Amino acid sequence: MADRVLITTDDLENAVRINAALEQAGLDTAMVSSLDDVRQAVSGKEPAAIVLSGGLHETTAKRLLAAARDHAVSTLGLVEPTEDDPNEIGRELGLTDWLVKPVDPAEVTATVRRLIERRRLQQRTGILGESSAIQEVLVKIEQMAPVTSTVLIEGESGTGKELVARAIHDLSPRRGKAFIAVNCAAITETLLESELFGHEKGAFTGAAERRLGRFELANGGTIFLDEVAEMPPATQVKLLRVLEDRTFFRVGGTQPIQVDVRVIAATNKSLKDAVGLGTFRDDLFYRLNVLSIYLPPLRERRSDIPLLVRTFTAEFGKTHDKQFKGITPEAMQILVDADWPGNVRQLRNLIESMVVLAPQGEIKPSDIPPEIRDRVRTMPVRITAPGGGREATGQELEFIFRTLIELKMQLEDLRRRINDRPERVEVIEVGGGSEGRQIEPRSFDAQDPLAPSTQPLPPVIYKPGMTMSDVEKAAIDAALRETHGNRRKAAETLGIGERTLYRKLKEYAID
Ligand SMILES: Nc1ncnc2c1ncn2[C@@H]1O[C@H](COP(=O)(O)OP(=O)(O)OP(=O)(O)O)[C@@H](O)[C@H]1O
Ligand SMILES: [Mg+2]
Repeated sequence: MADRVLITTDDLENAVRINAALEQAGLDTAMVSSLDDVRQAVSGKEPAAIVLSGGLHETTAKRLLAAARDHAVSTLGLVEPTEDDPNEIGRELGLTDWLVKPVDPAEVTATVRRLIERRRLQQRTGILGESSAIQEVLVKIEQMAPVTSTVLIEGESGTGKELVARAIHDLSPRRGKAFIAVNCAAITETLLESELFGHEKGAFTGAAERRLGRFELANGGTIFLDEVAEMPPATQVKLLRVLEDRTFFRVGGTQPIQVDVRVIAATNKSLKDAVGLGTFRDDLFYRLNVLSIYLPPLRERRSDIPLLVRTFTAEFGKTHDKQFKGITPEAMQILVDADWPGNVRQLRNLIESMVVLAPQGEIKPSDIPPEIRDRVRTMPVRITAPGGGREATGQELEFIFRTLIELKMQLEDLRRRINDRPERVEVIEVGGGSEGRQIEPRSFDAQDPLAPSTQPLPPVIYKPGMTMSDVEKAAIDAALRETHGNRRKAAETLGIGERTLYRKLKEYAID
């Protein structure tokens, strides 16, 4: 089926010429004269691209551009030659691409084709974003995929480094072979070497069998070295050797092993700074940095946020089987203005938790956690490990986010139960004096100061700086208060086993 392209008629002469050229190129075209026309055309069969023939500063053009961005439809603007700086205008209006008039219909056709290809690429790779930064990244991915040169991907945590690495592999001739990811920060120095290069039987205590390393497993494919800045110096030397002649020795081995592996490395710290600090070899830096991609943080490409929010909301609505209406404009504005220290990962996780928890099937400002709403900068999560504190890796952050979502779901459930609780409560006292005495059930008034509180308990709030243990402890405390110390019920409320609760009580010294 031919791709659909809409052409606005603000500059009728150009619109007609372009329409004819695109039609001749086999595209399914339609000329549209108003925003309503576009809306109708979009709702019928979503266009792959829209050509704005003129009137770029009109309000209708701006609204059309906003709608196109939200639906991930590419836009090509024809800019008047009288504009001072066409590039500035193109960027300011958020056009995907632009050409300065007078335009050659053949050039417009070629550009439209390229935009359609790019859109297809986004659908294939899952890399969303109409900002020029993301468009540049996509162009680089296309250029880098067919070759075997090493790629270095830099960007803050959660900006999509692994997504980009996978896209390069998936578009490369190696796509049929393995893509193997190794997180250099998550494995101890001694294990990392055998993990990467394998070991021979008896190479060290516990090496009962020969084991192939990740480089051998990735033969013919791609190895993704994540958090490469954390690689210990001894392993850096070995990696340098592999990059130089694609050979290495298994730990305890004497035979050189030759592999055909493409290396993609990623880091959320500046590798150049690490070289300056003397923690990363400069020769290795140059070997890795043959081709490079920088992923800017989300706060520097805020125009991509609405598209990401809409896509994630629809995706999680489906996953959690929820009839989800979407998000109110006020809530969207808050998300667009937020700082997002955890970038797309943080946004994605937050949307999932809001889709699960938003009471009316729609995200409203009150559903957004205060730390996002108030634009409080959250500090990077610090994990204390032997040898001093370090920043949490992406995977650890992912785990913390997941656990927080689960806890939030449990707490929400808890809050609902507390709110649904009747005003009068019946309790049966046990023990408390004469052994074996039969105790009558006693009913007592909620106003009785000695009675357990029937007031809704304050929600357990996560504050920056709290550890997972703090959050868990607060949740357990709340559950025990709610069940008046009944551990079986508390465990049930928390959705964990009684034994797990006992273990945690001991661990946190709660009695
Ligand atoms: N442009 C994007 N479009 C859609 N999803 C994205 C985009 N960028 C990142 N994501 C999603 O955000 C999450 C984090 O991405 P990814 O794991 O690639 O980040 P990262 O840079 O490797 O993070 P870290 O440094 O913490 O390991 C993933 O779920 C990924 O699919
Ligand atoms: Mg990663």
